[in-house]
Amino acid sequence: MLSNRIKELEASPIRRLNPYAAEARKNGKKIYPLNIGQPDIKTPNEYKSAIENYEEKVLSYADSKGIPELINSFVEYYEKHNMNFTKDDIIITNGGSEALLFAFLALFDLGDNVLMPEPYYANYNSFMHIAGVNVTPITTKAEDDFALPSKEDILKLVTPKTKAILITNPSNPTGKVYSKEEIYLIKEVALEKNLYIIADEVYREFVYDGLEFTSFAHIEEINDNVVIIDSISKRYSACGSRIGCIASKNKELMANMLKLAQSRLSVATLEQIGAANLVNVDENYLKEVNDEYRNRRDVLYNSLQKMNGVICNNPQGAFYVIAKLPVKDAEKFAIWLLTDFHINNETVLITPAESFYATEGLGRDEVRISYCTNVEALTKAMYLLEEALKVYPDKK
Ligand SMILES: Cc1ncc(COP(=O)(O)O)c(C=O)c1O
Repeated sequence: MLSNRIKELEASPIRRLNPYAAEARKNGKKIYPLNIGQPDIKTPNEYKSAIENYEEKVLSYADSKGIPELINSFVEYYEKHNMNFTKDDIIITNGGSEALLFAFLALFDLGDNVLMPEPYYANYNSFMHIAGVNVTPITTKAEDDFALPSKEDILKLVTPKTKAILITNPSNPTGKVYSKEEIYLIKEVALEKNLYIIADEVYREFVYDGLEFTSFAHIEEINDNVVIIDSISKRYSACGSRIGCIASKNKELMANMLKLAQSRLSVATLEQIGAANLVNVDENYLKEVNDEYRNRRDVLYNSLQKMNGVICNNPQGAFYVIAKLPVKDAEKFAIWLLTDFHINNETVLITPAESFYATEGLGRDEVRISYCTNVEALTKAMYLLEEALKVYPDKK
């Protein structure tokens, strides 16, 4: 018998449609994948060149905390963002994903509760499930630009079991960038109720329209409460490197977190060598990448705006949008796109958004669309989506 824990763990909703996509591809269809956050931007050469120059004869384990060069490169990076972390405040992880898992395991006991705005990154459900944590959603809506409710309304959701608030900023899946006021509002709730703040800031660079990004690490008053989740996956289009980190000024937490890092021995040595050299990437790289995504965002948003019955807000960060479609069930529509629809043997892959909500029934007519792909592909994909919606039989 397998454990109930594993049997009850849900398959990733972001990848759940993959078998349909595989079947469609087998049947010769070309698919524009707007379902995952896999950028098509070139990874900077600095990554590979550092690995190529590696000369050690033995590929040994690295320190469980991470190699000093990489930790120092994060310190340097944080300095540039006015985030005051020293090398003792950082543990290198296998992507932001492992940082999240460690945070859940280190902060929560079975049956504890985490508060987080919904819709939220669906993989949080897996980490919560593994750690035995329940979620209380702070519901946010496209029609309010996914703004947080008032402090009073958030305080009402806190129970004796609530240990932490998780904020993804900028947000996957909504593209929301939290204002300084909203960040301070969360800070006040955390101080008043003595809660940790898990700040998933893996999309820190992807903020558009001149908006200011406020990190929880900018607020000294809550140093001990804050755990930053970070990753180079999206920043440097290095998803396959699996390099991320967890950063916190809370010494007790970091000392205990290290035990988790030690249990898995270390993160891949060569990947850390490559990642450490990314501090030497020209500063224009991130600026150019930011311009590129903003441009893609404009293409996507303008196309969606023109489609009959489609409602979405203009996302200001990350590279996703939540769109309400004029269909009864977005999952059925997403499957239909793969099984029944095509124009000249081409179709689109999008993610049904229901799994990004904890509240039953929300998001059933919504999808998450990622704009990680180039403008040409995105334009084509939007044309296909518009035509598909015109002929889809199960509309609202
Ligand atoms: C909000 C958010 N956090 C964390 C991650 C984890 O990414 P990785 O494990 O590649 O660093 C992702 C990936 O899409 C994400 O969207």
